[in-house]
Amino acid sequence: MPENTLSVTDNRTGKTYQLPIEHGAIRALDLRQIKLDADDFGLMSYDPAFTNTACTRSTITYVDGEKGILRYRGYPIEQLAESSTFLEVAYLILHGELPDSAQLRAWTDDIIHHTFLHENIKTLMEAFRYDAHPMGMFISTVAALSTFYPEAPDIFNLENRMYQIKRLIAKVPTIAAFSYRHSRGLPYVYPDNDLSFTGNFLSMMFKMSEARYKVPPALEHALDVLFILHADHEQNCSTNTMRSIGSSQPDPYSALAGAAAALYGPLHGGANEAVLRMLNQIGTVGDVADYIRRVKAGETRLMGFGHRVYKNYDPRARIIKQVAEEVFAVTGRNPLLDIALELERIALEDDYFVSRKLYPNVDFYSGIIYQAMGIPTTMFPVLFAIARTVGWLAQWQELLQDPEQRIARPRQLYLGKGHRDYLPLAQR
Ligand code: ACO
Repeated sequence: MPENTLSVTDNRTGKTYQLPIEHGAIRALDLRQIKLDADDFGLMSYDPAFTNTACTRSTITYVDGEKGILRYRGYPIEQLAESSTFLEVAYLILHGELPDSAQLRAWTDDIIHHTFLHENIKTLMEAFRYDAHPMGMFISTVAALSTFYPEAPDIFNLENRMYQIKRLIAKVPTIAAFSYRHSRGLPYVYPDNDLSFTGNFLSMMFKMSEARYKVPPALEHALDVLFILHADHEQNCSTNTMRSIGSSQPDPYSALAGAAAALYGPLHGGANEAVLRMLNQIGTVGDVADYIRRVKAGETRLMGFGHRVYKNYDPRARIIKQVAEEVFAVTGRNPLLDIALELERIALEDDYFVSRKLYPNVDFYSGIIYQAMGIPTTMFPVLFAIARTVGWLAQWQELLQDPEQRIARPRQLYLGKGHRDYLPLAQR
Protein backbone atom coordinates (compact mmCIF):
# COMPACT_ATOMS: atom_id res chain seq x y z
CA MET A 1 0.00 0.00 0.00
CA PRO A 2 1.65 3.30 -1.03
CA GLU A 3 2.34 5.65 1.85
CA ASN A 4 0.52 8.96 1.95
CA THR A 5 -2.66 7.51 0.53
CA LEU A 6 -6.13 7.02 1.90
CA SER A 7 -7.94 3.77 1.19
CA VAL A 8 -11.65 4.26 0.76
CA THR A 9 -14.04 1.37 0.40
CA ASP A 10 -17.42 2.17 -1.09
CA ASN A 11 -19.74 -0.22 0.69
CA ARG A 12 -22.39 0.31 -1.99
CA THR A 13 -20.18 -1.38 -4.58
CA GLY A 14 -17.46 -3.06 -2.50
CA LYS A 15 -14.78 -1.26 -4.52
CA THR A 16 -11.70 0.19 -2.82
CA TYR A 17 -9.91 3.33 -4.01
CA GLN A 18 -6.51 4.81 -3.13
CA LEU A 19 -6.62 8.57 -2.77
CA PRO A 20 -3.31 10.49 -2.54
CA ILE A 21 -2.80 12.58 0.60
CA GLU A 22 -0.80 15.77 0.16
CA HIS A 23 -0.22 18.40 2.87
CA GLY A 24 -2.69 16.57 5.10
CA ALA A 25 -5.53 16.73 2.56
CA ILE A 26 -7.14 14.67 -0.16
CA ARG A 27 -8.35 16.36 -3.30
CA ALA A 28 -12.13 16.59 -3.33
CA LEU A 29 -12.04 15.93 -7.07
CA ASP A 30 -10.42 12.52 -6.42
CA LEU A 31 -13.72 11.47 -4.84
CA ARG A 32 -15.43 11.88 -8.20
CA GLN A 33 -14.04 8.53 -9.44
CA ILE A 34 -16.11 6.81 -6.73
CA LYS A 35 -19.26 5.92 -8.65
CA LEU A 36 -22.17 3.52 -8.41
CA ASP A 37 -22.07 2.99 -12.16
CA ALA A 38 -20.87 4.74 -15.32
CA ASP A 39 -23.87 7.12 -15.28
CA ASP A 40 -23.27 8.23 -11.70
CA PHE A 41 -21.88 11.78 -11.37
CA GLY A 42 -19.45 10.55 -8.70
CA LEU A 43 -19.05 11.19 -5.00
CA MET A 44 -18.82 14.73 -3.68
CA SER A 45 -18.00 16.03 -0.23
CA TYR A 46 -20.71 18.07 1.51
CA ASP A 47 -19.37 20.93 3.59
CA PRO A 48 -21.77 23.82 4.29
CA ALA A 49 -19.82 26.82 5.62
CA PHE A 50 -16.50 25.24 4.55
CA THR A 51 -15.80 23.85 8.01
CA ASN A 52 -13.31 21.27 6.71
CA THR A 53 -12.50 22.31 3.18
CA ALA A 54 -9.24 23.97 2.12
CA CYS A 55 -9.97 26.12 -0.91
CA THR A 56 -6.39 27.16 -1.56
CA ARG A 57 -2.75 26.61 -0.72
CA SER A 58 -1.43 29.78 0.85
CA THR A 59 1.88 31.11 2.16
CA ILE A 60 0.55 34.27 3.80
CA THR A 61 -0.95 33.67 7.22
CA TYR A 62 -0.70 30.72 9.58
CA VAL A 63 -3.29 30.14 12.29
CA ASP A 64 -3.24 27.29 14.78
CA GLY A 65 -6.53 27.67 16.57
CA GLU A 66 -5.89 24.93 19.11
CA LYS A 67 -2.62 26.49 20.27
CA GLY A 68 -3.65 30.13 19.81
CA ILE A 69 -0.94 30.89 17.22
CA LEU A 70 -1.12 33.58 14.52
CA ARG A 71 1.79 34.33 12.18
CA TYR A 72 2.11 36.52 9.09
CA ARG A 73 4.66 35.05 6.65
CA GLY A 74 6.10 33.10 9.58
CA TYR A 75 6.48 36.02 11.98
CA PRO A 76 4.51 35.68 15.26
CA ILE A 77 1.83 38.34 15.69
CA GLU A 78 3.18 39.17 19.16
CA GLN A 79 6.59 40.17 17.71
CA LEU A 80 5.05 42.20 14.91
CA ALA A 81 2.71 44.01 17.31
CA GLU A 82 5.63 44.75 19.62
CA SER A 83 8.26 45.87 17.11
CA SER A 84 6.76 46.61 13.68
CA THR A 85 4.44 49.19 12.15
CA PHE A 86 1.28 48.69 10.14
CA LEU A 87 2.84 49.78 6.85
CA GLU A 88 5.84 47.52 7.38
CA VAL A 89 3.49 44.61 8.14
CA ALA A 90 1.48 45.50 5.03
CA TYR A 91 4.68 45.22 2.97
CA LEU A 92 5.51 41.91 4.61
CA ILE A 93 2.05 40.45 3.99
CA LEU A 94 2.01 41.56 0.36
CA HIS A 95 5.63 40.84 -0.59
CA GLY A 96 6.42 37.87 1.65
CA GLU A 97 9.51 39.42 3.29
CA LEU A 98 10.19 42.33 5.62
CA PRO A 99 11.44 45.37 3.72
CA ASP A 100 14.98 46.74 4.07
CA SER A 101 15.18 50.44 4.94
CA ALA A 102 15.20 51.66 1.31
CA GLN A 103 12.24 49.44 0.44
CA LEU A 104 10.32 50.60 3.50
CA ARG A 105 11.01 54.26 2.70
CA ALA A 106 9.85 53.85 -0.91
CA TRP A 107 6.78 51.84 0.14
CA THR A 108 5.77 54.33 2.85
CA ASP A 109 6.30 57.23 0.45
CA ASP A 110 4.16 55.56 -2.21
CA ILE A 111 1.29 54.87 0.18
CA ILE A 112 1.39 58.30 1.82
CA HIS A 113 1.26 59.97 -1.61
CA HIS A 114 -1.83 58.12 -2.78
CA THR A 115 -4.09 59.10 0.11
CA PHE A 116 -6.02 61.82 -1.74
CA LEU A 117 -9.36 61.04 -3.34
CA HIS A 118 -10.59 62.40 -6.64
CA GLU A 119 -12.85 65.40 -5.93
CA ASN A 120 -15.72 63.61 -7.68
CA ILE A 121 -15.47 60.86 -5.05
CA LYS A 122 -16.02 63.53 -2.44
CA THR A 123 -19.08 64.75 -4.33
CA LEU A 124 -20.33 61.19 -4.52
CA MET A 125 -19.96 60.76 -0.77
CA GLU A 126 -21.77 64.01 -0.13
CA ALA A 127 -24.82 62.48 -1.82
CA PHE A 128 -25.33 59.97 1.02
CA ARG A 129 -28.04 60.74 3.55
CA TYR A 130 -26.99 62.56 6.70
CA ASP A 131 -27.47 59.41 8.82
CA ALA A 132 -25.96 56.89 6.38
CA HIS A 133 -24.06 54.09 8.10
CA PRO A 134 -20.32 54.67 7.49
CA MET A 135 -19.83 51.04 6.48
CA GLY A 136 -22.48 51.35 3.76
CA MET A 137 -20.73 54.49 2.55
CA PHE A 138 -17.36 52.76 2.69
CA ILE A 139 -18.51 49.74 0.68
CA SER A 140 -20.21 51.86 -1.99
CA THR A 141 -17.33 54.31 -2.29
CA VAL A 142 -14.71 51.60 -2.67
CA ALA A 143 -16.84 50.07 -5.43
CA ALA A 144 -17.17 53.50 -7.06
CA LEU A 145 -13.37 53.87 -7.11
CA SER A 146 -13.25 51.26 -9.86
CA THR A 147 -14.95 53.72 -12.21
CA PHE A 148 -12.14 56.24 -11.65
CA TYR A 149 -9.35 53.93 -12.76
CA PRO A 150 -10.18 52.43 -16.15
CA GLU A 151 -6.83 50.61 -16.23
CA ALA A 152 -7.66 48.71 -13.01
CA PRO A 153 -9.15 45.61 -14.73
CA ASP A 154 -5.72 44.89 -16.27
CA ILE A 155 -4.99 42.68 -13.27
CA PHE A 156 -2.38 40.41 -14.84
CA ASN A 157 -0.07 43.34 -15.53
CA LEU A 158 2.11 43.19 -12.42
CA GLU A 159 3.07 46.88 -12.39
CA ASN A 160 -0.49 48.01 -12.89
CA ARG A 161 -1.75 45.59 -10.24
CA MET A 162 0.73 46.87 -7.66
CA TYR A 163 -0.31 50.42 -8.48
CA GLN A 164 -3.96 49.62 -7.65
CA ILE A 165 -2.89 47.79 -4.49
CA LYS A 166 -1.02 50.88 -3.26
CA ARG A 167 -3.91 53.12 -4.19
CA LEU A 168 -6.36 50.99 -2.26
CA ILE A 169 -4.24 50.75 0.91
CA ALA A 170 -3.67 54.51 0.77
CA LYS A 171 -7.23 55.57 0.02
CA VAL A 172 -9.29 53.38 2.34
CA PRO A 173 -8.41 55.46 5.44
CA THR A 174 -9.47 58.62 3.58
CA ILE A 175 -12.78 57.04 2.55
CA ALA A 176 -13.26 55.78 6.11
CA ALA A 177 -12.59 59.19 7.66
CA PHE A 178 -14.81 60.98 5.13
CA SER A 179 -17.62 58.50 5.96
CA TYR A 180 -17.28 59.43 9.61
CA ARG A 181 -17.14 63.18 8.97
CA HIS A 182 -20.19 62.89 6.72
CA SER A 183 -22.20 61.01 9.34
CA ARG A 184 -21.34 63.80 11.82
CA GLY A 185 -22.08 66.64 9.41
CA LEU A 186 -18.45 67.75 9.70
CA PRO A 187 -16.32 69.09 6.83
CA TYR A 188 -13.99 66.52 5.31
CA VAL A 189 -10.34 66.85 6.33
CA TYR A 190 -7.84 66.30 3.54
CA PRO A 191 -4.87 63.98 4.08
CA ASP A 192 -1.72 65.40 5.64
CA ASN A 193 1.18 63.69 3.89
CA ASP A 194 3.65 64.67 6.61
CA LEU A 195 1.95 62.40 9.13
CA SER A 196 2.27 58.65 9.55
CA PHE A 197 -0.36 56.37 8.00
CA THR A 198 -2.17 56.08 11.33
CA GLY A 199 -1.49 59.67 12.43
CA ASN A 200 -2.96 60.93 9.17
CA PHE A 201 -6.07 58.80 9.71
CA LEU A 202 -6.56 60.28 13.20
CA SER A 203 -6.07 63.76 11.74
CA MET A 204 -8.70 63.16 9.03
CA MET A 205 -11.05 61.87 11.74
CA PHE A 206 -10.60 64.45 14.47
CA LYS A 207 -8.99 67.66 13.16
CA MET A 208 -11.20 70.67 13.76
CA SER A 209 -10.15 74.32 13.39
CA GLU A 210 -6.52 73.95 14.47
CA ALA A 211 -3.91 74.61 11.75
CA ARG A 212 -2.39 71.20 12.30
CA TYR A 213 -3.77 68.23 14.22
CA LYS A 214 -1.49 67.12 17.06
CA VAL A 215 -1.49 63.32 16.90
CA PRO A 216 -1.59 61.80 20.42
CA PRO A 217 1.33 59.32 20.31
CA ALA A 218 -0.35 56.72 22.56
CA LEU A 219 -3.47 56.64 20.36
CA GLU A 220 -1.39 56.58 17.16
CA HIS A 221 0.56 53.61 18.49
CA ALA A 222 -2.54 51.79 19.78
CA LEU A 223 -4.37 52.19 16.48
CA ASP A 224 -1.30 51.06 14.56
CA VAL A 225 -1.15 47.90 16.69
CA LEU A 226 -4.87 47.30 16.17
CA PHE A 227 -4.36 47.64 12.42
CA ILE A 228 -1.49 45.12 12.57
CA LEU A 229 -3.67 42.65 14.47
CA HIS A 230 -6.48 42.94 11.91
CA ALA A 231 -4.33 42.92 8.75
CA ASP A 232 -4.99 39.32 7.74
CA HIS A 233 -6.53 36.16 9.09
CA GLU A 234 -6.30 33.60 6.28
CA GLN A 235 -9.48 32.08 4.82
CA ASN A 236 -12.39 33.71 6.64
CA CYS A 237 -15.77 34.90 5.38
CA SER A 238 -14.62 38.22 3.86
CA THR A 239 -11.34 36.86 2.46
CA ASN A 240 -13.23 34.03 0.87
CA THR A 241 -15.53 36.65 -0.67
CA MET A 242 -12.51 38.57 -1.99
CA ARG A 243 -11.15 35.39 -3.54
CA SER A 244 -14.52 34.29 -4.85
CA ILE A 245 -15.22 37.61 -6.56
CA GLY A 246 -11.56 37.86 -7.61
CA SER A 247 -11.80 34.47 -9.30
CA SER A 248 -14.05 35.93 -11.98
CA GLN A 249 -11.24 38.49 -12.53
CA PRO A 250 -12.84 41.91 -12.06
CA ASP A 251 -10.80 44.93 -10.91
CA PRO A 252 -9.69 44.85 -7.24
CA TYR A 253 -11.98 47.74 -6.19
CA SER A 254 -15.09 45.75 -7.08
CA ALA A 255 -13.77 42.62 -5.36
CA LEU A 256 -12.76 44.55 -2.25
CA ALA A 257 -16.15 46.23 -1.97
CA GLY A 258 -17.67 42.74 -1.84
CA ALA A 259 -15.18 41.60 0.79
CA ALA A 260 -16.01 44.66 2.90
CA ALA A 261 -19.72 43.84 2.60
CA ALA A 262 -18.99 40.35 3.92
CA LEU A 263 -17.07 41.88 6.80
CA TYR A 264 -20.03 44.08 7.76
CA GLY A 265 -22.11 41.29 9.32
CA PRO A 266 -22.36 40.96 13.13
CA LEU A 267 -20.80 37.48 13.08
CA HIS A 268 -17.64 38.85 11.47
CA GLY A 269 -16.36 42.45 11.44
CA GLY A 270 -19.56 43.78 12.94
CA ALA A 271 -18.88 41.84 16.13
CA ASN A 272 -17.04 44.61 17.97
CA GLU A 273 -20.00 46.91 17.40
CA ALA A 274 -22.22 44.14 18.78
CA VAL A 275 -19.93 43.76 21.81
CA LEU A 276 -20.40 47.40 22.75
CA ARG A 277 -24.15 47.16 22.32
CA MET A 278 -24.09 44.12 24.58
CA LEU A 279 -21.95 45.82 27.24
CA ASN A 280 -24.23 48.87 27.23
CA GLN A 281 -27.26 46.61 27.46
CA ILE A 282 -25.79 44.78 30.47
CA GLY A 283 -25.21 48.17 32.08
CA THR A 284 -23.46 47.31 35.35
CA VAL A 285 -21.02 44.74 36.70
CA GLY A 286 -23.81 43.50 39.00
CA ASP A 287 -25.91 42.47 35.98
CA VAL A 288 -23.21 40.32 34.39
CA ALA A 289 -24.20 37.07 36.11
CA ASP A 290 -27.78 37.41 34.87
CA TYR A 291 -26.55 38.01 31.31
CA ILE A 292 -24.37 34.89 31.48
CA ARG A 293 -27.44 32.95 32.66
CA ARG A 294 -29.35 34.15 29.58
CA VAL A 295 -26.46 33.17 27.30
CA LYS A 296 -26.39 29.68 28.79
CA ALA A 297 -30.15 29.40 28.38
CA GLY A 298 -29.59 30.01 24.66
CA GLU A 299 -31.50 33.33 24.74
CA THR A 300 -28.56 35.35 23.47
CA ARG A 301 -24.86 35.07 22.58
CA LEU A 302 -21.87 36.40 24.38
CA MET A 303 -20.63 38.68 21.63
CA GLY A 304 -16.85 38.81 21.21
CA PHE A 305 -16.58 35.23 22.44
CA GLY A 306 -15.97 32.16 20.36
CA HIS A 307 -14.27 31.71 17.04
CA ARG A 308 -14.56 29.21 14.24
CA VAL A 309 -10.83 28.55 14.36
CA TYR A 310 -9.50 29.58 17.77
CA LYS A 311 -10.40 27.02 20.39
CA ASN A 312 -7.96 28.70 22.74
CA TYR A 313 -7.40 32.33 23.76
CA ASP A 314 -7.26 34.41 20.55
CA PRO A 315 -3.64 35.72 20.61
CA ARG A 316 -4.87 39.05 19.28
CA ALA A 317 -7.23 39.48 22.24
CA ARG A 318 -4.29 39.15 24.63
CA ILE A 319 -2.33 41.91 22.84
CA ILE A 320 -5.41 44.14 22.63
CA LYS A 321 -5.92 43.87 26.38
CA GLN A 322 -2.45 45.37 26.91
CA VAL A 323 -3.09 48.12 24.34
CA ALA A 324 -6.30 48.98 26.18
CA GLU A 325 -4.33 49.86 29.30
CA GLU A 326 -2.04 52.20 27.27
CA VAL A 327 -5.03 53.96 25.74
CA PHE A 328 -6.92 54.31 29.02
CA ALA A 329 -3.83 55.90 30.58
CA VAL A 330 -4.45 58.79 28.15
CA THR A 331 -8.22 58.81 27.71
CA GLY A 332 -9.32 57.68 31.16
CA ARG A 333 -10.75 54.26 31.88
CA ASN A 334 -13.75 53.21 29.84
CA PRO A 335 -16.35 52.07 32.43
CA LEU A 336 -17.43 49.29 30.06
CA LEU A 337 -14.04 47.66 30.64
CA ASP A 338 -15.10 46.54 34.12
CA ILE A 339 -18.18 44.82 32.69
CA ALA A 340 -16.02 43.17 30.02
CA LEU A 341 -13.45 41.96 32.56
CA GLU A 342 -16.21 40.53 34.76
CA LEU A 343 -17.80 38.79 31.76
CA GLU A 344 -14.46 37.29 30.84
CA ARG A 345 -13.72 36.22 34.42
CA ILE A 346 -17.06 34.41 34.82
CA ALA A 347 -17.03 32.91 31.34
CA LEU A 348 -13.51 31.51 31.67
CA GLU A 349 -14.55 29.67 34.85
CA ASP A 350 -17.92 28.47 33.61
CA ASP A 351 -18.26 24.97 32.22
CA TYR A 352 -20.62 26.10 29.43
CA PHE A 353 -17.84 28.23 27.90
CA VAL A 354 -14.92 26.02 28.93
CA SER A 355 -16.43 22.84 27.46
CA ARG A 356 -17.22 24.63 24.17
CA LYS A 357 -13.76 26.23 24.11
CA LEU A 358 -15.23 29.71 23.93
CA TYR A 359 -12.62 32.38 24.64
CA PRO A 360 -12.54 36.14 24.01
CA ASN A 361 -11.79 36.87 20.36
CA VAL A 362 -10.10 39.90 18.78
CA ASP A 363 -13.29 41.94 18.98
CA PHE A 364 -14.00 41.56 22.67
CA TYR A 365 -11.73 44.45 23.69
CA SER A 366 -11.13 46.39 20.46
CA GLY A 367 -14.51 48.16 20.60
CA ILE A 368 -13.88 49.41 24.14
CA ILE A 369 -10.58 50.92 22.97
CA TYR A 370 -12.14 52.54 19.93
CA GLN A 371 -14.89 54.01 22.07
CA ALA A 372 -12.35 55.44 24.52
CA MET A 373 -10.63 57.09 21.53
CA GLY A 374 -13.90 58.81 20.66
CA ILE A 375 -14.69 56.64 17.66
CA PRO A 376 -18.41 55.83 17.33
CA THR A 377 -19.53 52.19 17.17
CA THR A 378 -20.74 52.46 13.57
CA MET A 379 -17.12 53.09 12.57
CA PHE A 380 -15.76 49.88 14.10
CA PRO A 381 -16.23 47.64 11.06
CA VAL A 382 -14.81 50.43 8.89
CA LEU A 383 -11.61 50.45 10.97
CA PHE A 384 -11.43 46.70 10.59
CA ALA A 385 -11.80 47.11 6.81
CA ILE A 386 -8.90 49.62 6.64
CA ALA A 387 -6.53 47.06 8.13
CA ARG A 388 -7.96 44.00 6.38
CA THR A 389 -7.65 45.69 2.98
CA VAL A 390 -4.01 44.57 3.12
CA GLY A 391 -4.91 40.94 3.73
CA TRP A 392 -7.65 40.93 1.11
CA LEU A 393 -5.25 42.31 -1.49
CA ALA A 394 -2.48 39.84 -0.62
CA GLN A 395 -4.93 36.94 -0.81
CA TRP A 396 -6.33 38.25 -4.10
CA GLN A 397 -2.83 38.57 -5.53
CA GLU A 398 -1.99 35.04 -4.41
CA LEU A 399 -5.14 33.79 -6.11
CA LEU A 400 -4.20 35.47 -9.40
CA GLN A 401 -0.72 33.93 -9.29
CA ASP A 402 -1.96 30.42 -8.47
CA PRO A 403 -2.15 28.27 -11.63
CA GLU A 404 -4.54 25.86 -9.89
CA GLN A 405 -7.23 28.49 -9.30
CA ARG A 406 -10.19 28.91 -11.63
CA ILE A 407 -13.48 30.69 -11.30
CA ALA A 408 -14.99 29.68 -7.94
CA ARG A 409 -17.96 27.45 -8.50
CA PRO A 410 -19.18 25.32 -5.58
CA ARG A 411 -21.38 22.29 -6.08
CA GLN A 412 -24.72 21.64 -4.43
CA LEU A 413 -26.79 18.66 -3.40
CA TYR A 414 -30.07 19.23 -5.17
CA LEU A 415 -32.94 18.05 -2.98
CA GLY A 416 -35.78 19.89 -4.71
CA LYS A 417 -38.61 18.64 -6.92
CA GLY A 418 -37.96 16.43 -9.92
CA HIS A 419 -39.24 17.32 -13.37
CA ARG A 420 -42.78 18.69 -13.43
CA ASP A 421 -44.78 20.46 -16.11
CA TYR A 422 -45.90 24.05 -15.90
CA LEU A 423 -49.55 24.43 -14.94
CA PRO A 424 -51.50 27.38 -16.32
CA LEU A 425 -52.78 29.70 -13.58
CA ALA A 426 -56.39 28.53 -13.91
CA GLN A 427 -55.43 24.91 -13.17
CA ARG A 428 -53.44 25.52 -9.94
N1 ACO B 1 -21.97 32.83 23.06
C1 ACO B 1 -22.62 31.72 23.50
N2 ACO B 1 -22.53 30.53 22.95
C2 ACO B 1 -21.73 30.43 21.87
C3 ACO B 1 -21.03 31.51 21.33
C4 ACO B 1 -21.17 32.75 21.97
N3 ACO B 1 -20.51 33.82 21.54
N4 ACO B 1 -20.32 31.11 20.27
C5 ACO B 1 -20.57 29.80 20.12
N5 ACO B 1 -21.43 29.39 21.10
C6 ACO B 1 -21.90 28.01 21.31
C7 ACO B 1 -22.96 27.64 20.30
O1 ACO B 1 -24.25 27.93 20.78
C8 ACO B 1 -22.71 26.18 20.14
O2 ACO B 1 -23.24 25.52 21.27
P1 ACO B 1 -24.00 24.11 21.11
O3 ACO B 1 -22.93 23.16 20.67
O4 ACO B 1 -24.57 23.82 22.45
O5 ACO B 1 -25.04 24.32 20.05
C9 ACO B 1 -21.19 26.04 20.25
O6 ACO B 1 -20.80 27.15 21.07
C10 ACO B 1 -20.48 26.09 18.91
O7 ACO B 1 -20.85 27.30 18.26
P2 ACO B 1 -21.02 27.49 16.69
O8 ACO B 1 -22.01 28.57 16.44
O9 ACO B 1 -21.23 26.16 16.05
O10 ACO B 1 -19.56 27.97 16.30
P3 ACO B 1 -19.16 28.61 14.95
O11 ACO B 1 -17.76 28.22 14.71
O12 ACO B 1 -20.15 28.34 13.87
O13 ACO B 1 -19.28 30.17 15.25
C11 ACO B 1 -18.77 32.40 15.80
C12 ACO B 1 -18.20 31.01 15.46
C13 ACO B 1 -19.69 32.88 14.67
C14 ACO B 1 -17.61 33.39 15.91
C15 ACO B 1 -19.55 32.29 17.14
O14 ACO B 1 -18.68 31.88 18.17
C16 ACO B 1 -20.25 33.60 17.50
O15 ACO B 1 -21.37 33.85 17.05
N6 ACO B 1 -19.59 34.45 18.34
C17 ACO B 1 -20.14 35.72 18.66
C18 ACO B 1 -19.90 36.70 17.53
C19 ACO B 1 -18.46 37.12 17.43
O16 ACO B 1 -17.82 37.49 18.42
N7 ACO B 1 -17.93 37.13 16.19
C20 ACO B 1 -16.55 37.61 15.93
C21 ACO B 1 -15.70 36.52 15.43
S1 ACO B 1 -14.06 37.11 15.23
C22 ACO B 1 -14.07 37.90 13.76
O17 ACO B 1 -14.85 37.74 12.88
C23 ACO B 1 -13.00 38.90 13.57
